[in-house]
Amino acid sequence: MVRILLILLLLSLSTKLLSAVADPSTAEALFVLGDSSASCNLSPLHFSVPFCNTGLLPNLIAERMGLPELPLFDQSNKTAKSLAAGVNFASDPGKILSGGGIGGVFQLHSLSQQVRQVTETLQIIRLELGPAAASHIVSSALFLLSFGKDDYTSLLAAGANPDPKRGRRGFSRILASEMIRAVQDLYDGGVRRVAVMAVAPLGCAPRVVLEAYNVLGSHNCVDEANEIIARYNVKLSAELEKLSSSLPDAKFVFCDVYAGMMEIIANPLSYEQTNKPNVFYVALSQLNSIAKFQGLGGLTGFENVRDACCGVGPFGAMAGCLFKEMACAEPQKHIWWDLYSPTKAVNEVLANWSWFESDMHICKPVSLQRLMQPLS
Ligand SMILES: *[C@@H]1O[C@H](CO)[C@@H](O)[C@H](O)[C@H]1NC(C)=O
Ligand SMILES: *[C@@H]1O[C@H](CO)[C@@H](O)[C@H](O)[C@H]1NC(C)=O
Repeated sequence: MVRILLILLLLSLSTKLLSAVADPSTAEALFVLGDSSASCNLSPLHFSVPFCNTGLLPNLIAERMGLPELPLFDQSNKTAKSLAAGVNFASDPGKILSGGGIGGVFQLHSLSQQVRQVTETLQIIRLELGPAAASHIVSSALFLLSFGKDDYTSLLAAGANPDPKRGRRGFSRILASEMIRAVQDLYDGGVRRVAVMAVAPLGCAPRVVLEAYNVLGSHNCVDEANEIIARYNVKLSAELEKLSSSLPDAKFVFCDVYAGMMEIIANPLSYEQTNKPNVFYVALSQLNSIAKFQGLGGLTGFENVRDACCGVGPFGAMAGCLFKEMACAEPQKHIWWDLYSPTKAVNEVLANWSWFESDMHICKPVSLQRLMQPLS
């Protein structure tokens, strides 16, 4: 009798667990790990508070997933309920390599530190919501990694007197293998959907162009810097594919933000913000002077490929963006927001190219939208 009761109890428990696993009301969650390309947190260690570029790519991807704005991990109340909907662990600055900070400052927010925070978070979710619900949340969520920008801006800022090439090649190998190790650690923690973002072509960033201009007098993208970054991206993408084939129950996607931005830089007038009604457009079209208006440049895409919208000096790159009032009047016409970051307008384009399956897709082997479909 006792045995039968026990079996019945176990049966009812397991149906409960099963229903928790299959619960369709569990929202898809997004967990973001990253550097300044993914975070607007304001470190108390900064003396001046940078004006945040709110249109960061991970935020725009969250929007396309239909999620509300992600809370920052540091500011979340760390209850399972709030964490389970997704959280942003990213940090500005945040580096793949933890060793480089002065006085260990940057170590606090390195890749490995953020992976540790993920583990902590999953622990809280497991303890409060139970193992079945937790594993459902973790395996169905998207984990997006956007790193490398801060590592490479530091490397490039080391100036015209860089390490020998082999040193730089070694650097990209180390960075890529640290990233792969993080993906493996996440997998070991139950994560099954990961998107890894490439590093943008920082050789075209205003600050890098300015530094080369001071030496060489050229206004163009710094090919050498782009080549270093491209090599890292290729390596990372290949390693991710390799890891993916050894872990068939997981889906890993690489989003080539580098290729996307190079396409926009090469054809800046072809891409534009089409999702905002333009007041001037309406007014002028009523006057039947659309042609004149287009001459003024309202709908003609990115007119400024080179200069930061928010900054001072040549290319807007002598000093970075410190407050909103420093910004240009029409950021949507710029490719670059500040020293090293693209504008929201560029990120909107990249978010679409990441999310949708289209001719312009930049994520492989599948788009992020496809990645979020149920695992087979
Ligand atoms: C924590 O945050 C969540 C979501 O933001 C909220 O629903 C919940 O009430 C908060 N809990 C506590 C204890 O403050
Ligand atoms: C992104 O895609 C949506 C849906 O197709 C579209 O409405 C929007 O204009 C696109 N945004 C950009 C910047 O291309």
